[in-house]
Amino acid sequence: MKLFLFFCFILGYLSRITVAEEIRDEGSEEVLSDYNYACGDELMETKCKCNETVLNCDSSGVKNLNIHIIAENFTVKSAKFNNDYIQILRKRKILPGREYSVQSLDFQHNWITEIENGTFDEFLKIETLILSNNRLTKIDENVLTETLGKTLTSLDFKENNFQQLSSKTFMYLKKLEFLGLSDNPGLVPYFNKNIFSASLKNLKHLDLSWCNISILEDDAFSNLRQVFL
Ligand SMILES: *[C@@H]1O[C@H](CO)[C@@H](O)[C@H](O)[C@H]1NC(C)=O
Ligand SMILES: *[C@@H]1O[C@H](CO)[C@@H](O)[C@H](O)[C@H]1NC(C)=O
Ligand SMILES: *[C@@H]1O[C@H](CO)[C@@H](O)[C@H](O)[C@H]1NC(C)=O
Ligand SMILES: *[C@@H]1O[C@H](CO)[C@@H](O)[C@H](O)[C@H]1NC(C)=O
Repeated sequence: MKLFLFFCFILGYLSRITVAEEIRDEGSEEVLSDYNYACGDELMETKCKCNETVLNCDSSGVKNLNIHIIAENFTVKSAKFNNDYIQILRKRKILPGREYSVQSLDFQHNWITEIENGTFDEFLKIETLILSNNRLTKIDENVLTETLGKTLTSLDFKENNFQQLSSKTFMYLKKLEFLGLSDNPGLVPYFNKNIFSASLKNLKHLDLSWCNISILEDDAFSNLRQVFL
C-alpha cells in the first residue's frame, strides 16, 4: 500500500512537470497557474532552501512566488528572493497560505517594476520589507496600506528609480523606524514636510544618501522628531 501511494505520488509529480512544460512551450515566461516547491527531501528537486525559519530562494530563478512548502512544520519567518529577475509582485501570489508567520520579505536585486495594490496585506506579522535595487518608479498608499502600516518597522527602497511621491505615500506607516530612499535621484523635488508627515512619528533613521540633495526646504524634516539622517 505504501509503495502504491508512493508510486501515485511520483506519477502525479511527473505529470505536473509535463503540464508546466507545455504551458512554457506556449511562450509564457511565467507559469502562474503552477507552483514551485520548497523544503523537499532528496527525492524532490526544490529551488528554495529551508533552514530554521529562513526560506532562501536567492539566485534560484524563481519568478513564480506561489511556493508550496513541503515540510508542514516549517515556519517561514524570513523569506529571501534576491537575484531572481522578478518583475511583478502580485497580490495573494507570494507564499499563499504561509503569509501568517512571515516577518521579513527580502526582494533585493530584482527587476521589479510593478507591485499590485494590497500585495502585502496578507502578511499580518511583517516587520521588514526590502525592495532595494529594483526598478520601481512609483509606489502609493494602495501598496503601503493601513494594514501593512500596523506592523511594518523597516522599509528599504534603496536604488530604485522613483520619480514621484505624494503626501499619501507614507501616510499609514505609523510604526516605521527605518526608511531607506537612498540612490533615488529623481525624488529630491518631493522631499518636504508633507511627504515626511507626522504619520512617520516613529521614524528613527531616514537614509537619503545619493539622492542628489542640493536644495531642501528648511522645514522638510520638521515633523520627524527622532530622526538621525
Ligand atoms: C542554518 O542556520 C544556522 C543559524 O542561522 C546556521 O548556523 C547554519 O549554518 C545554517 N545551515 C545551513 C546549512 O546553511
Ligand atoms: C519537522 O518534522 C520532521 C519530521 O517529522 C523533523 O525531522 C524536523 O526536525 C521537523 N522540523 C522542525 C523545524 O520542527
Ligand atoms: C491601484 O490603486 C490606484 C490608486 O492609487 C488606482 O489608480 C489603480 O486603479 C489601482 N489598481 C487596481 C488594479 O485596482
Ligand atoms: C543633481 O542635481 C544637479 C542640480 O540640481 C543636476 O544638474 C544634476 O544633473 C543632478 N544629478 C543627477 C544624477 O540627477
